[in-house]
Formats: sequence, structure tokens, C-alpha cells
Amino acid sequence: MDLKQIDQFAKETIFEAGKLIRDTFSYELVVETKSDPNDLVTNIDRETELFFIEKIKSFDPSHKILGEEGMGEKVQNLDGPVWILDPIDGTMNFVKQHRHFMITVGFFVNGIGKLGYIYDVMREDLFYAIEGEGAWYNDTPLRKLKPLKIEEAVIGINATWVTPNKRINHEKMIDLVKTVRGTRSYGSAAMEIAFVVSGKLDAYISMRLSPWDIGGGTIIAKEVGAIATNLNGNDFDFLSQDTFIIANPSIHQLILDRYIEEK
Ligand code: IPD
Ligand code: CA
Ligand code: CA
Ligand code: CA
Repeated sequence: MDLKQIDQFAKETIFEAGKLIRDTFSYELVVETKSDPNDLVTNIDRETELFFIEKIKSFDPSHKILGEEGMGEKVQNLDGPVWILDPIDGTMNFVKQHRHFMITVGFFVNGIGKLGYIYDVMREDLFYAIEGEGAWYNDTPLRKLKPLKIEEAVIGINATWVTPNKRINHEKMIDLVKTVRGTRSYGSAAMEIAFVVSGKLDAYISMRLSPWDIGGGTIIAKEVGAIATNLNGNDFDFLSQDTFIIANPSIHQLILDRYIEEK
């Protein structure tokens, strides 16, 4: 398998998809809801996923595709080459702000992440990695993350988790928020992961993400030494939803031990 050729194909396809998405702002979006009134999907999420599927199938019909909008086949396992992708991560931002949303793509072979991409569509910025070769922000190599103290950390977290909720001990989360230097919430898991791998955030925590939210990002994470697991400290299961944390290696275990208590 020629990874360089697949990388070239992936980048071209992502850039083309990004341009198609940017062009859609000249006409009206069709916005629908999915599981609840805040779970949005647009015609562009679906069209972009279809665009990827057609491109990948004509590149190599044996490759499987797991995408958020379910336009590909039902992927039951990660055997062989599998693309895990989210055509628009941050759909609510896409609809409301027309910015701060990402295309994110991971290419796996037998469950091992080989190529990872997070593309900021409006800024035309690409974060990407090739397994074992490194990670880049556009043409600039991303460095290994430097250690820091929890008091110096800026973390990505959704405000829901510092209010009483069924999933997690929110008092401990309040302690975390008070301890760190600052918190941010960007509304796109892929964007927050891109910020962690490039040192603009030091951790990002989520109570529920899906394989397509993090597929590309976890591959980039490995190359810069960021640690990505579920909130039990185990590897994320790429076939179902799970809790998620990605963090600078110097604070990953500390956050889990001291501040995360699932109910
Ligand atoms: C969502 C975003 C959001 C995260 C949600 C995801 P979508 O993805 O990444 O930041 O909090 O859990 O589902 O639906 O916009 O692709
Ligand atoms: Ca969605
Ligand atoms: Ca998503
Ligand atoms: Ca999405």
C-alpha cells in the first residue's frame, strides 16, 4: 500500500470538499434535526459525505467508509483499509456562524491509524499526520508537546459538565475549572483536538464522542505525544460512542485521577 499516494489523494479530496462547502454560503442551507432539537444536520453535511464516498470508491472500491451521516456501508469491524470521517464537525457553528467547523478524516488499516486530517474549512488550514513520520500544520512541522503544570493549562470543556448532570461528578469538574489557567469551548471536537495537538489547548474533555469526531485527530495526537483515551484511561473504541480526553502527556493521568469521577 502506497501511503504517500493515499495521503496525496486525501489532501486533494479534502481541499476540494472544503471549496464546495465554502461555495454553499451563496445559497440557502436546508437545516433539519436528528436525535433532538439541538442535533442539527444540513443538506451540505450529507452532500459532502457523499462526495467523499464517491471519491474514495473510485480511488479504491475495497476501502470501507464510516461517516457520521451513514451514507456509506455499515462498517462492522476495522479489518482492512477503513476511512473514518466527519464531513462537517461543528454543524451548529456551520449553520449559525459560517465558521469554526472542520472536515476531519482518519485512514486506518486493520484498526491502526495511518493518516489523520483536520481541516479548518474557512481558514483553509490543515492539521495532518502520517503514522511514524510526524505531524504538520500546513507546511510547518508540529513539535512534541512540552510538559506543563495543571495550573498553567488551558482546557477545552463544555459548560454542561460543571452543572449537575447524570454522567459525571460535577463538583470535581468545578475543582478542575478553578485549578486551570483557563477554559474554552469551541463547538467542534475536531477543532479542539487540533488545538491540543498544536499546543493551543492543553486538554479537551468530552462525555460523548463518536469515532468520526476523533478518528483523524487521534492519529495526529500520537505524532506529537498527546495522549487520547476514554475517561477510564483506555483506548477509544472506534466502532461506538465513548467518553473522550486528549491531553498533554504531563497532565492526562492527573486529570483522570483527580478530577474525573463518572457516575
Ligand atoms: C459535534 C461537535 C461538538 C461535540 C459533539 C459532536 P457534529 O459534532 O464536535 O463540538 O460536542 O459531541 O457531536 O455533530 O457537529 O459533527
Ligand atoms: Ca452531527
Ligand atoms: Ca462531529
Ligand atoms: Ca458532523
